[in-house]
Amino acid sequence: MSTVTINGRVETLPDDPEALLVDVIRDNLSLTGTKLACGAGVCGACTVLLDGVPVVSCLMPAKAVAGSMITTVEGIGGTRLHPIQRAFMTLDALQCGFCTPGFVVEAVAFHDGWRKAKGTAVPSREEIGAALSGHLCRCGAYDNILRAVAEACSGRFDGDETVPPRLEARDKVTGSAKYAVDIHHDGQLEGLIVRSHVAHGRIVELDLAPARAMPGVVAVVSLLGDDRTVRYVGEPIAAKDHKTARDAAAAIGIKCEQLPSVVGLDAARKPGAALVFEKSSRKKAGNVSEGSPAPAPWKHNVRGPSGAFSHKAKKVRNAIAAAAQTHDPLLVEGVFRTAGQSHSCLEPHVTVARFDGDRLTVHVSTQVVFHLMELIAKRYKVDRNKVRVIADHVGGGFGSKASLGIDTIAAIELAREAKAPVRIAIDRHDELTVTGHRPATEINIALLPSREGGLKALSLTAYSDNGAAINSTIAALARLIYPAEAKELVDFDVISNLPPGTAFRAPGGPPMAFALEQAVDEAALRMQVDPISLRKRWDTDPNRQRLYDWAAGLDVWRNAKGAAAQSGRYRRGVGVAAGYWLYLWQPGSKVELAIKGGRLVASTAIQDIGTGSRTVIANTVAHEFGLEPHEVEVRIGDSNLIEGPGSGGSRTTASVVPPALLAIQKLKDAIEKNAKQKPTPGSNAPWRELIAASADISVSATRPEDNKPTFPGVRSPLKEAGLMGTIFGWMMRRFSNLAIGAGVPSSVQVIEVEVDTWLGHVRVLNVHTGIAVGKLAAPALARSQATGSVIQGIGYALYEGREVDPASGDILTAGLEDYRIPGIADTPNIDVHFDEAGFDHVLGGSVGIGEVATVPTSPAIANAIRNAIGVRAYELPIRPARLIAILNQRSVA
Ligand code: FES
Repeated sequence: MSTVTINGRVETLPDDPEALLVDVIRDNLSLTGTKLACGAGVCGACTVLLDGVPVVSCLMPAKAVAGSMITTVEGIGGTRLHPIQRAFMTLDALQCGFCTPGFVVEAVAFHDGWRKAKGTAVPSREEIGAALSGHLCRCGAYDNILRAVAEACSGRFDGDETVPPRLEARDKVTGSAKYAVDIHHDGQLEGLIVRSHVAHGRIVELDLAPARAMPGVVAVVSLLGDDRTVRYVGEPIAAKDHKTARDAAAAIGIKCEQLPSVVGLDAARKPGAALVFEKSSRKKAGNVSEGSPAPAPWKHNVRGPSGAFSHKAKKVRNAIAAAAQTHDPLLVEGVFRTAGQSHSCLEPHVTVARFDGDRLTVHVSTQVVFHLMELIAKRYKVDRNKVRVIADHVGGGFGSKASLGIDTIAAIELAREAKAPVRIAIDRHDELTVTGHRPATEINIALLPSREGGLKALSLTAYSDNGAAINSTIAALARLIYPAEAKELVDFDVISNLPPGTAFRAPGGPPMAFALEQAVDEAALRMQVDPISLRKRWDTDPNRQRLYDWAAGLDVWRNAKGAAAQSGRYRRGVGVAAGYWLYLWQPGSKVELAIKGGRLVASTAIQDIGTGSRTVIANTVAHEFGLEPHEVEVRIGDSNLIEGPGSGGSRTTASVVPPALLAIQKLKDAIEKNAKQKPTPGSNAPWRELIAASADISVSATRPEDNKPTFPGVRSPLKEAGLMGTIFGWMMRRFSNLAIGAGVPSSVQVIEVEVDTWLGHVRVLNVHTGIAVGKLAAPALARSQATGSVIQGIGYALYEGREVDPASGDILTAGLEDYRIPGIADTPNIDVHFDEAGFDHVLGGSVGIGEVATVPTSPAIANAIRNAIGVRAYELPIRPARLIAILNQRSVA
């Protein structure tokens, strides 16, 4: 029997020669601070110290550590915490926190070694980047991680713990924050989803008996739909339980009649392509957006055109045809292509389901705690009060965890059949294959300036490579920027036998901006006008007008040289792009405020996916009562709390701050009414005293409608979009429970890149991101969101692309070693400028930031590349081979 010392305690290792260290740590010892994310040694989330040296425990056989000393994140710091932990907390070097324990463990080893060798000298960004290069953070917390490690090494955090800007920071840096994937009940079983290996087929026989008969197998259920048809590789067929699940899964007898399939945008549009959805089965298609789909015509595998947001479309066609005929040099035309982007949340989609009698509790990694409870109750036709959804912490979502997922359905059905708690955790292969992605696109654009310098006509036609899903909105988004004399905006869904796309941070926004913002840049070049000045002329939105002034004053913009002035291997360029998103909020959102035992408690059924919902509420309440945020107890992540909004479409802050402010006023009134004594004269904390002395009270408030905007120029985007805007707004409220408010959250980015013209590498050097989202409810966390959005945008622009086998429909980028997301060494200098005006009609003045902050990054990078080398990139990601090809003015096959 071999042993190992873990965090100072001697533990026995299992006899199983295949046992991995990560499983021993997490499952046998319940040290769940160590996370399992990629399972391939790529992301570093499972890092522990082995005799003081960082190792990835997901690749380490448990038997190999016999006799060694292991330190997990729980063993670091003790009650005083390590300087690295204090630095991460103070500088907000974390968001969802799922990657944080791995980073902390590695950074502690680096810090301790550095301090021993170099005292309080400050390591460079490159040195820290090299040390932490084995770690990935999908939230993009790198900028603050680099700062935190540098400042910890400088000795700044050798002293006492400081108050962090993020409420739950301590739990995340110590590994005590519990995610759904960490939940373990007594008698809990493991479930597994068996998936289709063909792109299109009909299951003619499904024999579950052999699997059921296997020892250790407690339950097997079929998840096949009534048409018994699978439409993409990876579509679930059945689920099983326990650690023997893989063997049992192999024993399931499946006979599948393979049907003709079609994979990808080009193949699906060809005449005679295999049909993915018969008319009778179209309701089974997924949804790539956040709203409900409006009716649109289907023609074979193409759904659309949806051109409802066009105006004077015929005029556009005529003007562009005439300009093309006369070879008008101002006519900008192009076809832009973007690759599919995987959400790649580090915490996988996961559900733990447990029945207690007829009551169901599910711990889920979800963006919609309250709504998911409603969906489960509806699907299983049970009372809402019999279903409870819990998500204390969520390891990222980015749009992929906003519905009732197959992991949740499978876990519930297995738990019911097994009469035991069941966990389904999606593995990384399936996570990168079937849990959603931003669809690839092809966008045809024609933009025609007028002779007088105005915008005469704009045409965008977008084809979205949705897989088995519908409802893309890409071209239509261009209705909300650059008012033109005439616009034709047309969207098509292209459906094929690929996993369905889903909403991803500003769905439709980044690909639309990649095309439109490059076309505007090209127009400026041809008109010989400064690109920021042209945007200022064409784009009347008051929020962006202020941001354009800020951008125009940046030194990096004023000093940009351009391609003509450069030679040699490395060339630098500066680009600009604008972004926007709808200001969304969720009607019916509520906040409850209570005094319980002399303590102020704020609660609502929302979730914190790393965006800082807890802190937004704490800050709002604390500010109004003259308290510190940590004096407010915030309860979220539980559908048993009062109804709260989902985390999607940047709606959360705008949905919870206004009802919180109303509830605050109600609570103040109630406290004063009940108070036996008035506050002590001269006290600078009258509410603290009154709250401490108060009997228990509880009040709540619902999100009110907004006031009429008073800020000059703020308009309703729906009214600007005419009749269709009004209908769209009504549909969003009616079917998606989302309201679209007046004013447009906006961003403008100025980015400097360096292009290696020999090898085709693009390095982003400096990013200046200007953001107008009203008042900041949590400034430090807003900055974290802004920098993380830039990092994701850099990934979209330069690295990320879902690769598909066109013959089989297999996703080839099904591991984090193949699907390249940005790492810490890819982090540029990021300067964040917040403009807090423009939303005074919203109670509290705050709207969401997550989407708008990522929209302009890819076109700003592409425009910077054009500025550096004089050639434009029409396709994402702009990888070295593609860049060399455009430098050589040839296309990549
Ligand atoms: Fe790093 Fe979320 S904070 S993955």
